[in-house]
Amino acid sequence: MTKEKVLVIGASGQIGVELTLALRKIYGNANVVASDLREENELLKGTGPYVSLDVMNKEMLHVQVIRQNITQIYLLAAILSATGEKNPNLAWHLNMQGLLNVLDIAREEKLHKVYWPSSIAVFGPTSPKQACPQRTIIEPSTVYGISKYAGEFWCNYFFERYGVDVRSIRYPGLISYKSAPGGGTTDYAVEIFHEALEDGKYTCFLKEDTYLPMMYMPDAIRATIELMEAPSARLTVRTSYNVSALSFAPREIAAEIKKHIAGFDMSYSPDYRQKIADSWPESIDDSVARADWGWKPEYDLARMTKEMLENLK
Ligand code: NAD
Ligand code: SER
Repeated sequence: MTKEKVLVIGASGQIGVELTLALRKIYGNANVVASDLREENELLKGTGPYVSLDVMNKEMLHVQVIRQNITQIYLLAAILSATGEKNPNLAWHLNMQGLLNVLDIAREEKLHKVYWPSSIAVFGPTSPKQACPQRTIIEPSTVYGISKYAGEFWCNYFFERYGVDVRSIRYPGLISYKSAPGGGTTDYAVEIFHEALEDGKYTCFLKEDTYLPMMYMPDAIRATIELMEAPSARLTVRTSYNVSALSFAPREIAAEIKKHIAGFDMSYSPDYRQKIADSWPESIDDSVARADWGWKPEYDLARMTKEMLENLK
């Protein structure tokens, strides 16, 4: 078996930090190269190699892939939904060109595997609100959603036409305590824990009854690794897989936090992110992921809330 050497692009971000640490446990510290445009995250320091890298600089990326004998790339660099609406051109440019650079290099260098995440943001106002299926009407209304949907079809194209083994998950909103979220509409579900512990109160930028699909980071990391380890022949989706874990509204997570912090006070001041949230489904049907590669979430709202508060304390 060929030795695997993994490059994580966007390793200092919310998912990148935890995914890099998890991959280092599997492949060995020296065999997982973390890279990012910004400086190395504190939690990664001393755990393995780090290179400063801009995914938009295809030449430098190509040099690193050859120099480091890379066999797999995890591409996490992107601009998320809320930041994307502030700068649509930049979001489109980074989210598309970054992916195309990686797919081209994967094809040329015959990389074993590529991982690239999509999002529930591919769905739009015309998609089903409840248990949104794998295959359905998809008319995204944010630049982030448009870029993810186009990206899914580039992944499918590179798989069908060139045999690039690229795999993808449509993550819901991810909740974590190790590294901060990077400008998404679901970020309230992380901010709320920090502010509950620091100030005992939080003003939410979404309305109290806005249900969204969510997932605790350990489930997301496990989903990613299980998909990447699944036999290629079992995968029937080469755009991106729906995965599901939680669906809750701000008032429900506030009520759960109140069980631990009795005086916690939640208020609401919806902003431009409400419109983005309103365009997404409230819950996701992930039966195809369950059937193809055995996906099953472990965390419910109560267990996640307890762990978040314990770890942030
Ligand atoms: P993040 O913003 O926390 O991290 C992205 C990282 O990419 C940052 O560290 C940033 O410095 C880096 N980066 C930006 N531009 C770069 C460039 N040109 N070259 C190299 N690095 C660059 O994002 P995240 O939450 O970790 O998301 C990772 C991926 O998962 C993204 O594709 C995102 O769309 C997707 N996703 C995330 C969520 C979520 O809730 N966090 C949900 C759905 C999908
Ligand atoms: N958490 C992400 C966002 O809100 C979903 O892709 O942008």
